[in-house]
Amino acid sequence: MSDARLKGLQAEMEKAALDLVALLPGPNLVFLSGLSFHLMERPVVALIPRKGMAALVLPELEAAKVAASRIPFVPFPYGEDEDSRTSAFAAMAKRMEIESQKLGVEYLRMRVLELRLLENAAPRVTAVDASSALASVRMTKDEDEIEAMRTAVRIAERAFDQTLPAIRAGVREREIAAELTLQILRAGSDSELPFAPIVASGPNAALPHALPGERMLQSGDLVIIDWGAAHKGYFSDLTRTLAIGTLSDELRTVYEVVRRANQAGREAIRPGAMAGDVDAAARSVIAAAGYSERFIHRTGHGLGLEAHEEPYIREGSALRLAPGMTFTVEPGIYIAGVGGVRIEDDVVVTAQAAESLSSYPRELIIIPG
Ligand code: CO
Repeated sequence: MSDARLKGLQAEMEKAALDLVALLPGPNLVFLSGLSFHLMERPVVALIPRKGMAALVLPELEAAKVAASRIPFVPFPYGEDEDSRTSAFAAMAKRMEIESQKLGVEYLRMRVLELRLLENAAPRVTAVDASSALASVRMTKDEDEIEAMRTAVRIAERAFDQTLPAIRAGVREREIAAELTLQILRAGSDSELPFAPIVASGPNAALPHALPGERMLQSGDLVIIDWGAAHKGYFSDLTRTLAIGTLSDELRTVYEVVRRANQAGREAIRPGAMAGDVDAAARSVIAAAGYSERFIHRTGHGLGLEAHEEPYIREGSALRLAPGMTFTVEPGIYIAGVGGVRIEDDVVVTAQAAESLSSYPRELIIIPG
């Protein structure tokens, strides 16, 4: 067990006084072992101790996957009947000598199913939240991870270019979302996208997480398009706002304010700065223009194997930025009943400042109405 990622986790476990960490199918397990399973009715649980043997309880039919793991797991396979499952967990607990240890779990992922199986096999363990230890290990990306994200951004940008001709007055939001999804896959994204594209036009654009619907684009609309692609499991997450025909003066002003807020946010990034400083830089541009009440979310979120992960770029966060951290900068202004603007880029903290992984033009794209 000499893998750097595993060592990183074990160092965090030491700091958090965790004896063991239990991982379920998902980004943490992929990051540490390279193994991907779906979270389904048959439980898959990896147990990683601070030192020594790691174990993987899994269905027999998946057992062949273990050979490809970066972590040398000792497998505890089980068959289709419930007794076989119970005894696999019991055998694992016995072999790993689990008694009253502190067991770190993925609070937002572990189900009652797995927790009960673990507690039955080792009744004296104490399950505690390991989320922040796990987030620390994944927060700083290495060159390979950044390169994968760069590719995911490139795929997303190409897909958007290919979708532009389909965007015009009279077309429904959901048709544009369908076209964009197709183009993301055609441009070479992994089939598992970070999320389904958002296309929100006119008054719908005032809702940050609107789902694409039946509304037809019309002249005078702002259209928010929020989309992403995936490469080797790593995500991109971009937003651009377009205009159909001629905008009102207010909407044009709002667009410029958000564009400047996005720029100010990106320019505030440097190692050692706090996440809250980046939020404040973007937020103050919007506040100075009189729209502070209309910027109703945080400035950004970490991005990697998950579409939302640490570091969160929110008001007052004292988290210190460090080279290799990757996150979004996505200020927005939302005016109920009228429309909204959001401009989102993906950035990586560098040794001196930050590099934007996305370079799609941020000037307002006007589609003749
Ligand atoms: Co985002």
